[in-house]
Amino acid sequence: MTANAIQAMNCEQLLDLRPLTPGFGAEVLGLDLRDAPSPATLDALKQALDTHSLLVLRAQHISETQHVELSRGFGDLMIHVLKQFLTASHPEIYVLSNVAENGKPIGNHKEGWNWHSDLSYMAEPSMGSLLHAIEVPPEGADTLFASMHAAYEGLPVDMQERIRPLKAVHSYAGYYGKAFADRAPLSEEQKARTPDVIQPVVRTHPSTGRLSLYVGQDIVKEIQGLEPEEGAQLLADLNAHAIRDEFVYRHQWQAHDLVIWDNRCTMHCATPYDDNAYRRVMHRTTVKGDRPF
Ligand code: OGA
Ligand code: MN
Repeated sequence: MTANAIQAMNCEQLLDLRPLTPGFGAEVLGLDLRDAPSPATLDALKQALDTHSLLVLRAQHISETQHVELSRGFGDLMIHVLKQFLTASHPEIYVLSNVAENGKPIGNHKEGWNWHSDLSYMAEPSMGSLLHAIEVPPEGADTLFASMHAAYEGLPVDMQERIRPLKAVHSYAGYYGKAFADRAPLSEEQKARTPDVIQPVVRTHPSTGRLSLYVGQDIVKEIQGLEPEEGAQLLADLNAHAIRDEFVYRHQWQAHDLVIWDNRCTMHCATPYDDNAYRRVMHRTTVKGDRPF
């Protein structure tokens, strides 16, 4: 048996895992993260994330500090450039919300309403995110997740070969201008911290070696080295393929859910809700990753 297979077995023994779809995602049962996980449990969680790409842990009544401490177990944390949406006590926590306090939004509303992988616009994007539901609407506001391993493996072989050497330009300023056209533009400092970056269109998972499709809506500006029209068409085709139903898991949030996903091999997208009627408050930590290859 290979070392990986033995490790996977140990992990299955330590964690009670239930698959969420035939292709990817697992619910982890029986863990209460108010007790800091032991090193062995943390290793099992990381192993499970490598295997399943997405983990759901329901009913986690953790504090901000516990959320941050747990996240640190996965790696160094990234601090978002939109500083106005970080919690006062924990700059590692980025808030997504439609709620305003004292006339100021406490979180970024309509963040992630496009298919994307977190911080793909950084030279070293996030390896994974941990999103904790604080308050959720009774209907709407599901989050869709898609397996980019499944998407890549689901492409015809000639298409896989065609796109494997390609690189694409990811642009935060481009995304921001499209997603938040009604807001003040990014400051010079924020722009300086988020220059456009070049990423491979096909990524290799650093832990498993498995390939995945690395694209995204709005954030990916262009594919390099192709005629603009051909590049735009290819990008549109890949973005459409990536989110086919068979690659997608829909998460219906309950308060206190914690969802952990691997940004190296998944994309996700928010869905709308009645933001006049309902409050939504979500806390995200973002674990730093390596340069994609
Ligand atoms: C995120 C994100 C989508 C949502 O937290 O990174 O894109 O449904 N969230 O809140
Ligand atoms: Mn996101």
